[in-house]
Amino acid sequence: MSALSDVKIFGQKETVVEGWYWAFKSSELKKGQVKPLNFLGKELALYRDEDGEVHAMDAYCPHMGAHLAEGRVEGSGIRCFFHHWKFDASGELVDIPCRKGGPGLNASLKHYPTCEKYKTIWIYTGESPQYDVHTIEELRGVELDSSFGNQFKKECHPNIMMINAIDAHHFTSVHELPVDVKFEAVNLSSNTIQFNNTTKIPRKKWYLRFISKFYSDVLTYSMSYTAGSTGSVTVGPDFLHCHIIFALRPTSEGKAEGLTILVTKKRSGLEGLLLNSIILFATKCVGNYFAKGDTEVFKSIRFNFNNPIKEDEAVIKFIQHLEKQKCVKWGFGKLETRLS
Ligand code: FES
Ligand SMILES: [Fe+2]
Repeated sequence: MSALSDVKIFGQKETVVEGWYWAFKSSELKKGQVKPLNFLGKELALYRDEDGEVHAMDAYCPHMGAHLAEGRVEGSGIRCFFHHWKFDASGELVDIPCRKGGPGLNASLKHYPTCEKYKTIWIYTGESPQYDVHTIEELRGVELDSSFGNQFKKECHPNIMMINAIDAHHFTSVHELPVDVKFEAVNLSSNTIQFNNTTKIPRKKWYLRFISKFYSDVLTYSMSYTAGSTGSVTVGPDFLHCHIIFALRPTSEGKAEGLTILVTKKRSGLEGLLLNSIILFATKCVGNYFAKGDTEVFKSIRFNFNNPIKEDEAVIKFIQHLEKQKCVKWGFGKLETRLS
């Protein structure tokens, strides 16, 4: 890539890629509850209506600007605290209590698509979703069980954190991985790219020979990304793959707010429940191990990819992929650009 220093999307705080970003854990928003959220620099009010559906609206009432999170949920809509104007689930103004014959004006709240997956609430940054929340390819169509790892803030942009999982160059220097990981990149769709390791475990030490018995072919390690800020890593022996989703969203300062989600297939019965809690706990430990080694560098890094080398190939491919994503007009963002 000739001009990695001239990227328009990767790591740029003014640019928001159209896509799904995590908002809250589902359990944090109860039926009838409304909460404020600074979401990618924009103030929103999120509420769960009386039927259990989640809605995300611009926070400020179009009357005098009261924050809707001060209001209350009514049916599928929300009523402002201040003068009790009511907005329906699509953000339309439907009631001004002091006007008996109807509101008599058009004033609506902008609302955003939401969904719930992995026990998490997601908001889409475009008008209508063009694709689903990140899917773990291996578990597509399978009923899932999940739990949460850490919730965290990092000093750098989500894209910078995300490349860590395919920065094969640092696997040996930081994580002392005895395996020489080499990735092949596969475009799963226009917005999802997956990197699969292609190398086997070397048989140079006794414990490596032992571990390699659990892999019929190459060492399982893959990372896939959807829209650059949410992705999942898959690791583990052939008989048990662990899946960790890293859901990140950028702040208006270009920092990262993240949540790790541990995922496995649903297993039935008490035995299944017990097995899944063990698997998800083990997955959490794997995630923590990888995150721990890099914590310090993300506090001070000033990402500047001036000298990419061949060993950085996967990172370069990720950046090239991201540069083709559609961006949206956002609160603090640039005008919409389509670079592909
Ligand atoms: S500010 Fe919301 S109804 Fe007046
Ligand atoms: Fe790392």
